[in-house]
Amino acid sequence: MKKILVIHYSQSGQLSSVVEHFTQPLVNLPDISVTFENILPQHDYPFPWPFFRFLDTFPESVYLDPPPMQPSSLQGDEDFDLIILAYQVWFLSPSLPTTGFLKSPLAARLLKDKPVITLIACRDMWLMAQEEMKKLLTGLDAHLIGNVALVDEAGSIGSFLATPAWVLSGDKGPHLGGLIPRAGVSDNDIVCCQRFGQRIVDTWARGEPLERDLLQGLNAVRVNETLIASEKTARRAFLLWGKLLRSLGPSGSIKRKPVLLIYVVFLGTMIVTVVPLGIVLKKLLTPLTKKRIAQQKAYFGEPSGS
Ligand SMILES: Cc1cc2nc3c(=O)[nH]c(=O)nc-3n(C[C@H](O)[C@H](O)[C@H](O)COP(=O)(O)O)c2cc1C
Repeated sequence: MKKILVIHYSQSGQLSSVVEHFTQPLVNLPDISVTFENILPQHDYPFPWPFFRFLDTFPESVYLDPPPMQPSSLQGDEDFDLIILAYQVWFLSPSLPTTGFLKSPLAARLLKDKPVITLIACRDMWLMAQEEMKKLLTGLDAHLIGNVALVDEAGSIGSFLATPAWVLSGDKGPHLGGLIPRAGVSDNDIVCCQRFGQRIVDTWARGEPLERDLLQGLNAVRVNETLIASEKTARRAFLLWGKLLRSLGPSGSIKRKPVLLIYVVFLGTMIVTVVPLGIVLKKLLTPLTKKRIAQQKAYFGEPSGS
């Protein structure tokens, strides 16, 4: 009997739906048992998000400050053959409930020496979050053998407005008569996640172990090379402003509000000035940076292959 643990959390239900389709080929098989663990913080985050609460969450997200978590039904001494860790990205970092779980003593016991597949559903900026995830998993002595990253169907530009509109209103849209497209991962991408579960079933049916090439050739991730530099720059800015905000008080502190307001103005200015300039510059430099970008693309695509 092979045993799988699926760790998940979702605010809108999107990631739960992804998990459901991914695991569909695995459940109800006589020789595979699947345990679903819905991780929950002691004080859950609101959905839809009030504007300031949304912004005020970025310092703790980027600094991976773990929120206290609700007790689990798992003890930690269960012996799983595979752990599927489904998570969403918050501010270029694993979402806080995910961080809360991964930094808990329970995770340290469950994940030690275990193969892990990460399963992401986010807007479309997951590269830096997965870098943090890799560090967290290494710290737990877990082995990352696969990554699946699903992104919003509206694309980078469309989802730039659509995703915030969704999480701040609770309504996927489209909004403003279609000016802001529908947010979220496409239904087709979600349904097609079955292929990953099927690959696990087939590998075990052949009596083969789950290795780092498990999900290769399935289009599990697509690394958008135009976002690599933007993600790195944005993360640096998050760390800088986050440090300042954390020094002013804990999340929710009134002292943070004026700085958050200044930050919003700074962010808006950057988006309409520096970001387009950077894109033009990158396009002009493409012939010179082609090789390095290809290397970066391969690196971020690991282990599933972009
Ligand atoms: C506070 C917050 C920050 C987010 N930051 C990012 C981000 O940096 N990159 C990204 O691709 N998506 C980001 N998203 C979108 C989420 O990753 C995810 O797609 C969305 O919240 C739906 O997830 P759910 O299954 O929990 O409902 C963010 C969402 C929230 C609520």
